[in-house]
Amino acid sequence: MNVLRFSDLVAAGRVAGKRVFIRADLNVPQDDAGHITEDTRIRASVPCIRLALDAGAAVMVTSHLGRPTEGTFKPEDSLAPVAARLSELLGREVPLVANWVDGVQVAPGQVVLLENCRVNKGEKKNDEALARKMAALCDIFVHDAFGTAHRAEASTYGIAQFAPIACAGPLLAAEIDAIGRALANPKRPLVAIVAGSKVSTKLTILQSLAKNVDGLVVGGGIANTFMLAAGLSIGRSLAEADLVGEARAVIEAMKARGAEVPIPLDVVVAKAFKADAVATVKAATDVAADDLILDIGPKTAALLANQLMAAGTIVWNGPVGVFEFEAFSHGTEAIARAVATSPAFSIAGGGDTLAAIAKYGIEKKVGYISTGGGAFLEVLEGKTLPAFEILARRAAG
Ligand code: 3PG
Repeated sequence: MNVLRFSDLVAAGRVAGKRVFIRADLNVPQDDAGHITEDTRIRASVPCIRLALDAGAAVMVTSHLGRPTEGTFKPEDSLAPVAARLSELLGREVPLVANWVDGVQVAPGQVVLLENCRVNKGEKKNDEALARKMAALCDIFVHDAFGTAHRAEASTYGIAQFAPIACAGPLLAAEIDAIGRALANPKRPLVAIVAGSKVSTKLTILQSLAKNVDGLVVGGGIANTFMLAAGLSIGRSLAEADLVGEARAVIEAMKARGAEVPIPLDVVVAKAFKADAVATVKAATDVAADDLILDIGPKTAALLANQLMAAGTIVWNGPVGVFEFEAFSHGTEAIARAVATSPAFSIAGGGDTLAAIAKYGIEKKVGYISTGGGAFLEVLEGKTLPAFEILARRAAG
């Protein structure tokens, strides 16, 4: 994708002394006391801020935090905890500025954090007047918020329309490159793992991937619905019987292309959804009426691991079993270890997937871990994200 890159502007010496507005995604989870419980997104935003500071820019950074009501600022909506963490990571004070839309005081070599952009009236609806005001604050707009790239809001889209220059920051650029490598020009075979509780939430992803991938591994409740579609009994397992037809259509679409949706050969079942429930491995044809399928079985895991080892590219979204319960975690662990050892280029995204990656300590062995939640899912759906569209349009002049 052809977008202007902030790193190229820096290399060309076009950033010194300029007012740079960075839209980051600093939307991190917090506990009830407001403490940040996971700071990946803040850490991922640091390289762009450093790049701008080192180039001698006057740097403004903003982000949303949560989904506050516009026009009414509440203390819990504040980016104050983020400012504190950012200060630690940058090793310098990061002042937090409120009511910033009409003007910001910041000198070259300084950085300020602009308070939660979603409290500004008109942000969500991409109000043109608000976007123009934000654009007027800067010489260069840098979109570095992949997690928000699927939103067309004033601080992500409108500002990119009206700022003198609009470009992609290093995090957004890395996501664009990894997505292109995995989905636009993949080394084949391309294998996708799409797992989760419901087909309905990932149906468009399954349909879109069925047109592109060589292997589509389904897991979790999604696999149960596919087992029904393949004529297997699933007992009391989570599934969506009304979507069996859609699942069958995905299987047929893959078959017509000479590709495959592997249906589990064996499964791990229990009589109750509990961490200490007795786990029993059964052939997929032997599931009893009162069984709950909570994981793939060892034969299926070994077969899928072999497919992943032979893949050229792997896209991973979703754990294949209830990996939070030890007895039902082995399928997801086998998938994680295969992703880690496979020579394939791999890209992974989504909250549960990241939790599984962390649990098995394979962060460094995944080709690219996306910082996007909803944005990553929309990419898998084959959508063009608004951020990519507007930056490509600006690059085209
Ligand atoms: C996310 O957490 O996925 C992003 O920060 C986007 O948040 P949103 O869904 O509230 O737009």
